[in-house]
Amino acid sequence: MCGIVGYIGNRQASPIIISGLRRLEYRGYDSAGVCVVDSEKLKINKKAGKVADLENGFDLMALKGTLGVGHTRWATHGVPNDVNAHPHTDMSGSIALIHNGIIENYLTIRKKLVNAGYTFRSETDSEVLAVFIGMLYDTIGDLETSVRTALSEVEGTFGIVVVSTYDPDLLIAARRGSPLILGVGTDEYIVASDAAAIIAHTRQVIYLQENEMAVVRRSGYVTKTIHNEETSGNIEEISFELDQIEKGGFPHFMLKEIYEQPITFRDGFRGRLRIDEGNVRLGGLSKVYEQLSTAKRIIITACGTSWHAALVGEYLIEQLARIPVEVEYASEFRYRNPIINPDDVVIAISQSGETADTLAAIREAKTRGATVLGMVNVVGSSIARETDAGVYIHAGPEIGVASTKAFTSQLCILTQFAVYLGRMRHLSADAGREIAQGLAEIPDHIQTILDQSESIRQIAQQYSGVSNFLYLGRGYNFPVALEGALKLKEISYIHAEGYPAAEMKHGPIALIDENMPVVFIAPKDEIYDKVRSNIEEVRARNGQVIAIASSRDSRISDAANHVIYIPETLPMLTPILASIPLQLLAYFVAVDRGCNVDMPRNLAKSVTVE
Ligand code: G6P
Repeated sequence: MCGIVGYIGNRQASPIIISGLRRLEYRGYDSAGVCVVDSEKLKINKKAGKVADLENGFDLMALKGTLGVGHTRWATHGVPNDVNAHPHTDMSGSIALIHNGIIENYLTIRKKLVNAGYTFRSETDSEVLAVFIGMLYDTIGDLETSVRTALSEVEGTFGIVVVSTYDPDLLIAARRGSPLILGVGTDEYIVASDAAAIIAHTRQVIYLQENEMAVVRRSGYVTKTIHNEETSGNIEEISFELDQIEKGGFPHFMLKEIYEQPITFRDGFRGRLRIDEGNVRLGGLSKVYEQLSTAKRIIITACGTSWHAALVGEYLIEQLARIPVEVEYASEFRYRNPIINPDDVVIAISQSGETADTLAAIREAKTRGATVLGMVNVVGSSIARETDAGVYIHAGPEIGVASTKAFTSQLCILTQFAVYLGRMRHLSADAGREIAQGLAEIPDHIQTILDQSESIRQIAQQYSGVSNFLYLGRGYNFPVALEGALKLKEISYIHAEGYPAAEMKHGPIALIDENMPVVFIAPKDEIYDKVRSNIEEVRARNGQVIAIASSRDSRISDAANHVIYIPETLPMLTPILASIPLQLLAYFVAVDRGCNVDMPRNLAKSVTVE
């Protein structure tokens, strides 16, 4: 969602900004724009569509100037068109601003400005902020003070970068609720909403904190609060490599990320699993050991795919540690006056660590006195910073909008977490050892499934023309059914529903006919026979059954039209393996339909607005 890049230095800004925007394309957006400061004026090109559309009929690289900003916009206020695209300028056209987030009181500010004679071109909240800063500059005559004064009146969230012809040696960046990172190079600085836009130039970065700003000149920078108190601005190192955010020979990031899973899964337990002890070491949780050993209840909050991982986590933790677990959509949690006791532990699961609803949910939980933990992928992200303790999932950068490797890595961490909690309580070393051993075998099992991708592609091609899909699973694999359906709808735009298999008879069974493919997740476990009966019910109504089954299940092919086999593992680990063929199925269906797999319409990788 919305990408920000700003540059100040001695090199030409526009090529650096454009390549940065391209690195941020994965986040999802619908318009883009660039502004470079020429000493006399702002040169702006902005358009609805993709970064490539900006270059049509316009030589972007010809924009001359060593200070500039660029933006990819995901529409919130106003449709995606050229006028609503960022950058926005003040009324004099001397100050340019790019903005991520939402200015909640923009109508009040806009009214004040209209009454004072100021006019607007766009429907955006962001232009209101640009014009407001311009109005303040007209009386204050100092850009930094004008920005700070404007921000002190703003309600809502922002990551902004401001440049101006008034001072072509000044770039101002500020954040509240939207991530911003300052890349510190040699005599040059790049500010961006995501480290992916910075890493080609420098690995040294400062993650701006809430209500912090950076005032940057070619000769140096200061970080301060938006109330003008200087801050320390610690420099940290970006933790991934450039090749991790490139396609590496794959046609899409999503496929690359699916194929990375034997490695990323292993990275999730490397140094953590203690097979001999039947235990797990999670260093990031040592400071909350006491709270975890006395926790009476666990609440897991998340959105999207991470929420599905949380549901698997609920089954795992309740089974292994016998602690009651509640899983909450972050967006619902914060608005329903949740009951939280001091001995509750609240866990936020998030790939990006920036999802606005999840961030708001943990703030709510903290206010109510709970211990708050994070299971996050992006190092240094807001959720990672604002939680009391946590575990990084170590999946590496995930670029494809549809989450794949982050999901299996989340399951890797949740399984270890459940063992860790269980071993603090009644779980025996033998039981812990069996699970640890099972986890250690998963990367090879994932590879076995990936090796079947050609046959999964063939199944996908047979069904790529349908309008609906049903995904059914039970127990640990009910959340996998939800996740399989989500993957398909996200990238192929086929309507898909996930359901607990036994609930089928209370509704979805009415939909079943010869045109309805039904994906059953049916590994050999204690409820296999029940799921098998559900398969027969679908077949009796001429539904098309695609079964995800255990490799030793010799009978399944009698009932299913297609079978995708997954290796034998413990029932609680089957969600990890079953999700792999569902990712591939969704991917191949979407490719066959000609969809933009990595950047599906309307979706964003990191949803930083409510
Ligand atoms: C967006 C993404 C999903 C993701 C969800 C939650 O909707 O498109 O892939 O699952 O946000 O994101 P998070 O970063 O918090 O896991």
